[in-house]
Amino acid sequence: MTDNAIPVIDPFVLFDAWFAEACDSEPNDPNAMALATATPDAAPSVRMVLLKGHDERGFVFYTNAQSRKGSEVLANPQAALLFHWKSLRRQVRIEGPLAEVTPEEADAYFHSRPFVSQVGSAASDQSRPLDSRQTYTDRVDALRAEYEATGEVPRPAHWTGFRLDPAAIEFWTDRPNRLHERRRFTRDVEGGWTSTLLYP
Ligand SMILES: Cc1cc2nc3c(=O)[nH]c(=O)nc-3n(C[C@H](O)[C@H](O)[C@H](O)COP(=O)(O)O)c2cc1C
Repeated sequence: MTDNAIPVIDPFVLFDAWFAEACDSEPNDPNAMALATATPDAAPSVRMVLLKGHDERGFVFYTNAQSRKGSEVLANPQAALLFHWKSLRRQVRIEGPLAEVTPEEADAYFHSRPFVSQVGSAASDQSRPLDSRQTYTDRVDALRAEYEATGEVPRPAHWTGFRLDPAAIEFWTDRPNRLHERRRFTRDVEGGWTSTLLYP
């Protein structure tokens, strides 16, 4: 990534390499990423989520579709992701539309989570007002008692995943004296990638 003459490589391959390095060097949550969404009239909002899968189809996270982010995504699928790996002094920006994962994918991931996490998610009306912490813990206790025997909570239909299909991926590398490097990959019409350096 030092000049514009290098062959265009697959940004997924580069992402895999950087992500593997981040998994080795970050003190925690190398898969944490900021997710930016926007309302249909373009008011933005941003929060952290965890990357739970990625391949050439895109980047997947799981959440409550009735949350603030879920409502925004369902009304306006355009979104952006941001990784910042401080230990590596690297940043990756990813932009594109989100689409819901299949119910089978959501079921598989939901039931791969620890029982208490399944309970906590099912008990949460994520992003909606809560009158007291007690109300939430009472719901958690009730669901825990209901499903303890099976050790598995049915996945609420609104608890699902979204996959961002990238139209652009940008890799940023810290360099001395703030002479940083940026390489932006964009999808071309054939579905391949073109890349260019950007001024930092
Ligand atoms: C490191 C980190 C990881 C998180 N991962 C998730 C996640 O994978 N899914 C999720 O719904 N919320 C996650 N959260 C909580 C969200 O940041 C946010 O508080 C919540 O999803 C509600 O956001 P919303 O009101 O914008 O919908 C995470 C928070 C942090 C700090």
